[in-house]
Amino acid sequence: MRVLGIETSCDETAAAIIERFENEQGEVSSRILSNVVLSQIAEHEPYGGVVPEIAARAHVEALDGLIAKALADADMSINDVDAIAATAGPGLIGGLIVGLMTAKAMAFAADKPFYAVNHLEGHALTARLTDGLPFPYLLLLVSGGHTQVILVHGLGHYERLGTTIDDALGEAFDKTAKLLGLPYPGGPAVEQAALNGDASRFELPRPLKGEARLDFSFSGLKTAVRQTATQLVPLSDQDVADICASFQTAVADTLNDRVKRSLNKFLETYPDKEKPTLVVAGGVAANKVLRKGLETLCEKHGFDFLAPPHILCTDNAAMIAWAGAEHAARTEPDNLDFAPRSRWPLDSTAAPLIGFGRRGAKA
Ligand code: KG4
Ligand code: ZN
Repeated sequence: MRVLGIETSCDETAAAIIERFENEQGEVSSRILSNVVLSQIAEHEPYGGVVPEIAARAHVEALDGLIAKALADADMSINDVDAIAATAGPGLIGGLIVGLMTAKAMAFAADKPFYAVNHLEGHALTARLTDGLPFPYLLLLVSGGHTQVILVHGLGHYERLGTTIDDALGEAFDKTAKLLGLPYPGGPAVEQAALNGDASRFELPRPLKGEARLDFSFSGLKTAVRQTATQLVPLSDQDVADICASFQTAVADTLNDRVKRSLNKFLETYPDKEKPTLVVAGGVAANKVLRKGLETLCEKHGFDFLAPPHILCTDNAAMIAWAGAEHAARTEPDNLDFAPRSRWPLDSTAAPLIGFGRRGAKA
């Protein structure tokens, strides 16, 4: 099964073609035939964040060319694909419309089945694309728009164990960077600055640490960073480095405390699971300090730790093509009147949390 995937939910325009295989035991494997991603970071950089109208226009301008390149890289024409999948939500509505309309038009013209994909499901299933990981497993999704722990029971069966009650983790990195005069996106800049910093100089809070619930909170930490920085103005390079290091250590500490509870919850749900696995995805998963912390946590609790390659952790179309292929193997295609959804929770039974704020609708 070969599927063309299209991703336009935020500030990456992407197209990819993957091939999915499944044996009689239900074991899956894949080949990525092409995977092209065009980042719009430079267009949004002057504004310190994603501007929805700029994003939508940039998708319109780039998408046709990227799809042509994805087909050319795979040495295929549209007639050679078995299905077309596009992100239908959650995300910025202008961008979603661009990708979805393009996919529907191609599916109609080439007479191919069409699949509307939930962007979060793309992230959730990536570990099966890269490693053929069998269900069930635990997913920590940490990006600019989401901070969630999801129990992936099976295809289409996702239980959200915890989410942020305020800022997403990537957003906390971005806001901290902005406050300290570091460039956008903030995560890599904060990580870099922290390399020269003293993490013990500032005592920053560990929000929700020790609490029984499985949720996350980062806005208190961001406020503490602002107060710390305000007291020091003007900031020297060393001050910035020390704040970054202290912030990153506080994040790692609170993240480990929160995730540890979800590991226990997984083991309660699946006590007999051999090789329980924690998968981490999303742009923040690139952070080496956080990764190391999670890896050590997993070792301690008998979990395997799996982080897909960075290019497949951040927004991309291979994961959308893959999610489309997983559905194509099990479910009927979607209708061409499928409407884009700026909000689309993976776990429809989980109530939205009060105070849950998001920068745009980035996933
Ligand atoms: O998944 P992603 O590429 O886009 C979406 O949000 O969908 O994630 C981007 C986020 C940004 O907030 C960025 O600051 C953060 O991931 N990020 C990092 C690092 N690299 C990217 N955060 C911490 N450390 C990093 N090295
Ligand atoms: Zn994403």
